[in-house]
Amino acid sequence: MSSPDISSVSKASSSHVSPSNGSASELLEWGPALAAATHDAWTRVQDVIPEVEWPVHAPYVEAIRRWKERRNAVILAHNYQTPEIFHGVADLTGDSLALARLAAETDADVIVLCGVHFMAETAKLLNPEKTVLIPDARAGCSLADSITAADIRLLRERYPGVPVVTYVNTSAEVKAESDVCCTSSNAVQVVESLGVDRVLCLPDEYLAKWVATQTDVEIIAWKGHCEVHERFTPQELRDYRERFDDLVIIAHPECPPEVLDEADFVGSTSAMANYVGERTPRNVVMVTECSMSDNVAALHPEVNFVRPCNLCPHMKRITLPKILESLIRLDGAVEVDEAVAVRARRAVERMLDVPVSSKPSVGALVS
Ligand code: 13P
Ligand code: SF4
Repeated sequence: MSSPDISSVSKASSSHVSPSNGSASELLEWGPALAAATHDAWTRVQDVIPEVEWPVHAPYVEAIRRWKERRNAVILAHNYQTPEIFHGVADLTGDSLALARLAAETDADVIVLCGVHFMAETAKLLNPEKTVLIPDARAGCSLADSITAADIRLLRERYPGVPVVTYVNTSAEVKAESDVCCTSSNAVQVVESLGVDRVLCLPDEYLAKWVATQTDVEIIAWKGHCEVHERFTPQELRDYRERFDDLVIIAHPECPPEVLDEADFVGSTSAMANYVGERTPRNVVMVTECSMSDNVAALHPEVNFVRPCNLCPHMKRITLPKILESLIRLDGAVEVDEAVAVRARRAVERMLDVPVSSKPSVGALVS
């Protein structure tokens, strides 16, 4: 397929490459050479990015690729990153568990984590010697903000001897107070790996409740919520079902239980993407952050995505210009106090040691 029409879009591109932009001198003008250099990325995103936008993204895509080589850097991107990042510049993509595993394995000198702060912090815990960059350090998470290390210490006093499993969506200080971490794709396995009757599963109340439906272990939850997933309602999903009689609803376990009750499948972001890839339903709704549907739709033009759109404002802080800036300036290097890091790392490594069992590891069909 051809690249966007050069004559009709060159204006949009050149106005974006302004001298006020710190990385302007790194950017190539939109034209045949740049179109050819970024053609591979364009072919991946052409179904989900308007043609007129590509000449705006392309100069950054090319400059980022060059700087990645200069820095011996690898770009890890979460499934919620926008398509021009996810399909345009990322080397490795996935859910939180995959990103942690990939970060542990890379031999690059620099890791640029396109996601939110706790993801970059987890990458740093696993790579204390490497430079780990987050292009915007303000990219937080409502779940990570919902609990502190002091809260965990109080909970331990209240529930003596009960192991603490914390979601990776937490600060390093909270991880340091935990026995083991989990993600939405391995929470059930992590809980069961402890061989106990009762665990504290923190801080996401809805993930904890979902885990409780999948195991006999008693789960004690906290009141943290994801500001993106808590907004979905069962009624909106029922409305979609009425409009599309063969609609498949797949949802992230951070959604409220009454929303998950309406779903055909529940799983982590990668499990949701795999579900669509393997089953290619005619009509699907991914009950999660908006960019997921774009990124999966780019790979599956044959699937119709019904799109309720709840944006994660933290994930959306990461942009191509900020990625380029951080590669050039090595800005936004994540640091974790060593005393905290030693204990937090143990909780993350314990999670990575939990084997993937034959139980549905990354998702479950709802009967
Ligand atoms: P996943 O681990 O499923 O990618 O979820 C991370 C997250 O922040 C979802 O809101
Ligand atoms: Fe945090 Fe929710 Fe954003 Fe995921 S979608 S990073 S849980 S606020």
